[in-house]
Amino acid sequence: MPRSCRDAVGQEQVGEIRHDRSGISFRPGLEGVPVTQSAICDIDGLQGRLAYRGYPIAELSAHSSFLETTYLLIWGDLPSPQQLRDFEAEVQMHRRVSFRVRDMMKCFPASGHPMDALQSSAASLGLFYSRRAIDDPKYVYNAVVRLIAKIPTMVAAFKLIRKGQDPIQPRDDLAYSANFLYMLTEREPDPLAARVLDRCLILHAEHSLNASTFSARVTASTLTDPYAVVASAVGTLAGPLHGGANEDVLAMLEEIGSPEHAGDYLDEAIASKRKVMGFGHREYRVKDPRAVILQGLAEELFARFGTDEMYDVAKALEQAAATRLGPKGIYPNVDFYSGLVYRKLGIPRDLFTPVFAISRVAGWLAHWREQLGANRIFRPSQIYTGPQNRTWIPSDERFSSTGA
Ligand code: ACO
Repeated sequence: MPRSCRDAVGQEQVGEIRHDRSGISFRPGLEGVPVTQSAICDIDGLQGRLAYRGYPIAELSAHSSFLETTYLLIWGDLPSPQQLRDFEAEVQMHRRVSFRVRDMMKCFPASGHPMDALQSSAASLGLFYSRRAIDDPKYVYNAVVRLIAKIPTMVAAFKLIRKGQDPIQPRDDLAYSANFLYMLTEREPDPLAARVLDRCLILHAEHSLNASTFSARVTASTLTDPYAVVASAVGTLAGPLHGGANEDVLAMLEEIGSPEHAGDYLDEAIASKRKVMGFGHREYRVKDPRAVILQGLAEELFARFGTDEMYDVAKALEQAAATRLGPKGIYPNVDFYSGLVYRKLGIPRDLFTPVFAISRVAGWLAHWREQLGANRIFRPSQIYTGPQNRTWIPSDERFSSTGA
């Protein structure tokens, strides 16, 4: 039974609504409706467990690297040492982006959101590598390599371009995450910072059929190219109910200002039915396991580079929410602590979601491949609620003299 449901003009609907021909009940937001089979990611939202291809997320984030995890997600098994070396070398070789893409990005408005810049530049890759040979394993491998390699370069490039600077070229002697931080901050990062970012990328790489991954699979099901698949997913991730929440969390913590105000803020938000950003998840009824690990990463960074006073506000909010939202199964999600980590890494706030996208490309591409393996185009149905049998009338006869 849906929790709540509104019709096309926003009126509350009570009880179950069924499709008149199929008899299938309407589930707003497709909540709980399986629309595919997948062997990529498993979530136990009651126990707070998450595994990629059968490996618990805590093990991967402690021991793996982002590129190894990417390989695992996309090809199903951990790579051999040689496979990993080859994959890393290919990704390293394709990090640069064409001067044409950079020139195109220079025409983007500096005030534009980096997620919009990323969506446009990701889509533009399809112009350069447009051969849709999606049943050729070599094309698939190359497309994976290009997207994993170039997305971070494009995110870092826009950060500098919007300030009127030329983007920094990738450095071949730096590993994936260290190179991204270098291109972004213009400084070679501390090894701890680079490792923490790599672990963040592992944590965000995949999460079953969330909105952006669903978007990726729908786009993939039309057999279009993988650049269009990723561009559509980036657009979906940008929304504040999805990846965009990590930006809003920091703004919210700053609005609360100090730990003593956390309880009042929460009461006011609940009373006015405002969502507390970084809390709640369609799948989890406990604290998101990624939030648990991210909180630990934040603490590692604070111990080394100095604390962030918003961390105390975050902890106070989490504590206050335990009794007010906890009974409804609403706890911190992945976005709650990630902003604090990214800020400590020197990443500007409006790049938090693009960093999420850099990582989630791995999951989107895993789902792209899986979708192609057993494809059927997505075409759900709807329950029509509009008017019937209207007759067209000329425009000058449409309104009565009363203006009704
Ligand atoms: N703060 C306060 N109340 C909440 C919150 C929240 N963050 N999340 C859910 N609720 C309440 C709702 O008000 C609703 O209450 P009601 O039944 O009394 O009306 C109930 O919980 C169910 O909420 P829905 O929005 O229907 O739950 P849904 O599963 O559709 O939403 C979502 C999940 C979108 C993540 C939601 O929890 C939310 O908006 N959270 C804030 C935004 C956020 O942090 N998004 C990031 C999610 S993680 C990610 O996408 C990477």
